[in-house]
Amino acid sequence: MSEPKKLFIKTYGCQMNVYDSERMAEALGAEGYVTTEVAEEADMVLLNTCHIREKAAEKVYSDLGRLKPLKAAKPDLKIGVAGCVAQAEGGEILRRMPLVDLVVGPQSYHRLPAMAKAALRGEKPVDTEFPEEDKFDHLPDRPRAAVRPTAFLTVQEGCDKFCAFCVVPYTRGAEVSRPAARILAEARGLVEKGVREITLLGQNVNAYHGAGPADAGGGDWSLARLVRALARIDGLERIRYTTSHPNDMTDDLIAAHGEEAKLMPYLHLPVQSGSDRILKAMARKHTAADYLRLIEKIRAARPDMMMSGDFIVGFPGETEADFDATLDLIRAVGYGMAYSFKYSARPGTPAAEKAPVAADVADARLQTLQALITSQQRAAQEAMVGREVSVLFEKAGRLKGQMVGKSDYLHAVHVKTDLPAGAIARVRIVSSAPNSLAGEVAAA
Ligand code: 5AD
Ligand code: SF4
Repeated sequence: MSEPKKLFIKTYGCQMNVYDSERMAEALGAEGYVTTEVAEEADMVLLNTCHIREKAAEKVYSDLGRLKPLKAAKPDLKIGVAGCVAQAEGGEILRRMPLVDLVVGPQSYHRLPAMAKAALRGEKPVDTEFPEEDKFDHLPDRPRAAVRPTAFLTVQEGCDKFCAFCVVPYTRGAEVSRPAARILAEARGLVEKGVREITLLGQNVNAYHGAGPADAGGGDWSLARLVRALARIDGLERIRYTTSHPNDMTDDLIAAHGEEAKLMPYLHLPVQSGSDRILKAMARKHTAADYLRLIEKIRAARPDMMMSGDFIVGFPGETEADFDATLDLIRAVGYGMAYSFKYSARPGTPAAEKAPVAADVADARLQTLQALITSQQRAAQEAMVGREVSVLFEKAGRLKGQMVGKSDYLHAVHVKTDLPAGAIARVRIVSSAPNSLAGEVAAA
């Protein structure tokens, strides 16, 4: 028997890409490819790319440049570009980087095996269509070996919001929700294979509105309805979802946070800015006060909700007063965690037409904002010391006899224990380090 072909995948960007990379590995796995962690061993290298900011997109080209010697030493090596850069730039990638053999957009991954065969024949296939058929219907079932105690599950893709800064509506297309029956079946399959926590993914996940299962009367299901159905699956212990838009945070979904114990008390709810003027220019369609009222409602349903968010500094036209309003909003919310970015003009988006904020000003604002977020994050972690949380163990820690897992609040927790990956235990938090907590098992 010939050696199996080896596949190396590098994933950039968001969790959706992490999920997609796994599904691509499975699709090529059915064709006899096995994954490797070592690019030098690979017969095929796939870069699953991100287009959200200029830096992320340019990184792909520098990484491709670095593959040149490898390709020169191994002429049979096939190099593919997948993901959002592939979608945005298509065949242009082949012109800029002749060493690339195939380009595949996020909606065409089910066609990857055929494209890989074409590449082996010396063709250079490019597929950035938004096909009629659903790629999920054409991707293989997920093999046992790949499964860990936690899994991502894409339920929704694309975005109809058209925030003025964002490429997602162009790279990922219009909002599409998968039918609930398919999601429930995939979730049951994951749980049978040992998964205990599922994070539902979507660019706009709380806008989910998939077809309800026929045996449950059909109709349109909301994310709340889907979460409640998932919560009935025995063996599935934890449910999370990301990323959400404030305007799609329905009362029903908020209520589910108070009623469904399996729905974890951590919510990523980006607001981007605390200035109404900037929110308007961003086409966010809500004010800072709307957002704060929403957080109040969420915390009324689930008082211990750990909030997370995204912020953009240096959006065109942002003044010092606008920036101060963002800092005020951050102080008012108290985040457990937040991601912040310097505005990056993206070709084709409305904001890219506007004059940018000076780079040094934006840099300084980013530093100030990140310092505030870091202090809130530390405070949130410190506040855990002495408390009991539930921890789902994911893997062995760096020290002997130690396991690492995540608390309900998504903090990484190190614990000395014999419990295996996949076990959930009550853990008393004893100390807080900059990026993790340490605890002791109180009860398994
Ligand atoms: N520049 C900087 N940050 C951006 N994001 C999206 N588009 C841009 C851009 N053009 C950020 C937003 C979003 C997160 C995924 O990335 O904060 O929520
Ligand atoms: Fe990057 Fe957004 Fe595409 Fe995810 S969806 S890969 S974050 S551009």
